[in-house]
Amino acid sequence: MMQGSRTYGLLAKYYDLMLEESRGPMREARGRLLRKVWGSVESACDLGCGTGTTAVEMAREGRRVFGVDLSPEMCRLTREKAEAAGVKVKVMRGDMRDFALPEEVDLVTCEYDAINHIPEKEDLGAVLRCVARALKPGGHFHFDVNNRLGFESYWTQTVWLEKPGVVLVMRNGSDPANDRAWSDVEWFVKEGKLWHRHTERVEEVCWSEGEMREALGEAGFEWVRAWDGSRFWEGDSRIARGCRSVWLARKG
Ligand SMILES: C[S@@+](CC[C@H](N)C(=O)[O-])C[C@H]1O[C@@H](n2cnc3c(N)ncnc32)[C@H](O)[C@@H]1O
Repeated sequence: MMQGSRTYGLLAKYYDLMLEESRGPMREARGRLLRKVWGSVESACDLGCGTGTTAVEMAREGRRVFGVDLSPEMCRLTREKAEAAGVKVKVMRGDMRDFALPEEVDLVTCEYDAINHIPEKEDLGAVLRCVARALKPGGHFHFDVNNRLGFESYWTQTVWLEKPGVVLVMRNGSDPANDRAWSDVEWFVKEGKLWHRHTERVEEVCWSEGEMREALGEAGFEWVRAWDGSRFWEGDSRIARGCRSVWLARKG
């Protein structure tokens, strides 16, 4: 299953440097939506854990935490972040379409549109079945996704992010009729006196709310709620109403 999947390379290396500042809404959504759930969460898994920020935050609160990511570089960075924070996170390299945890957990999180990264829309069922299998009965799944409207609006723009010694240019494009979007990522990295150029591509797929609800129901989630992302990304003109959704589902 690993073959043909998308992994992060340079995006992993510079992920925190470039994107850490934009994590606020994600953290707020997690805190607000899971307010009533946290008390009963002793174990959790962050799926598509990236550099491990969320996994480490959950482990700091005393939970037993797993992190799963397809990118070996992301897995390494999560291990390093956990070690630096002095917490234990069991990191497993895996594909969200066929991962399995050594034990059932109370909560699975999957943030920053990680689910949109699977290669085909049809793969959603496989992901949700794996998540359901990873959860205890009554366990929760919390995730956010980009929607078709997001693909139509901000996935058409070019984004420029600059930090000392690193420039990231994301030339975004989309095919909303086929629920697909992509970002041709161009890096300019200063090494010594020279700037080096690297390229990378990220692709996403998306689902309608109806498709998502149906897939969640089929995978065994009985209680499902979605919130519009604009309430958490207030002030970010790119995340207008309908562009992004945040979900919470409970396994039956
Ligand atoms: C946008 S990043 C989000 C990372 C992290 N969740 C966060 O909040 O910063 C997407 C992550 O999904 C991972 N990913 C992409 N496809 C995957 C797959 N099929 N299975 C597991 N992880 C995957 C990437 O390696 C990357 O770390």
